[in-house]
Amino acid sequence: QSALPEGYVLRALRRTDYATGFLDCLRVLTTVGDISKDQFDQRYDWISRQEGGYFILVIEDTNSSPPRVVGTGALLVERKFIHNLGSVGHIEDIAVAKDQQGKKLGLRIIQALDFVAEKTGCYKTILDCSEANEGFYVKCGFRRAGLEMAHYY
Ligand code: ACO
Repeated sequence: QSALPEGYVLRALRRTDYATGFLDCLRVLTTVGDISKDQFDQRYDWISRQEGGYFILVIEDTNSSPPRVVGTGALLVERKFIHNLGSVGHIEDIAVAKDQQGKKLGLRIIQALDFVAEKTGCYKTILDCSEANEGFYVKCGFRRAGLEMAHYY
């Protein structure tokens, strides 16, 4: 039930994923922009320094040649003072390539991020999504809670 399709692997993002379609995968979510290899490396290195605080997972389709990233998702672990130094997980930037949607890849990414959140001691994990995606997150075990506010600059 929790297996990926044959030849698909779930793993942490790597520096080399600049060349495997990771950014294209994110383009199904929103604007990504023109990111150079150098800019990618700098951001990757910054994220890597957030020890235990920032995880980016990808699903790679190794049947395709060259292998291609077809799904991704991130978890930020926010360390708090409240709730006895509790931690809250924040799920961000979930994206599955258009031609790969409906194969439970999104579900597998959320399950993996949930597992990491629980292992790192989070007492809950939260996320923001559109009404159109509510059903997906309900199937992943989430429920509507609160209201998002935003201030754009
Ligand atoms: N509404 C209702 N149910 C849905 C939806 C939806 N929009 N999308 C999937 N489901 C259901 C599926 O039918 C499936 O149900 P089943 O178990 O009864 O068969 C279950 O949810 C799991 O679906 P997956 O196959 O795992 O979904 P998929 O791999 O296609 O990924 C995702 C879903 C991530 C929303 C994908 O469609 C996508 O990348 N969309 C564009 C980008 C996007 O909107 N990302 C989420 C932004 S919110 C955030 O990042 C926190």
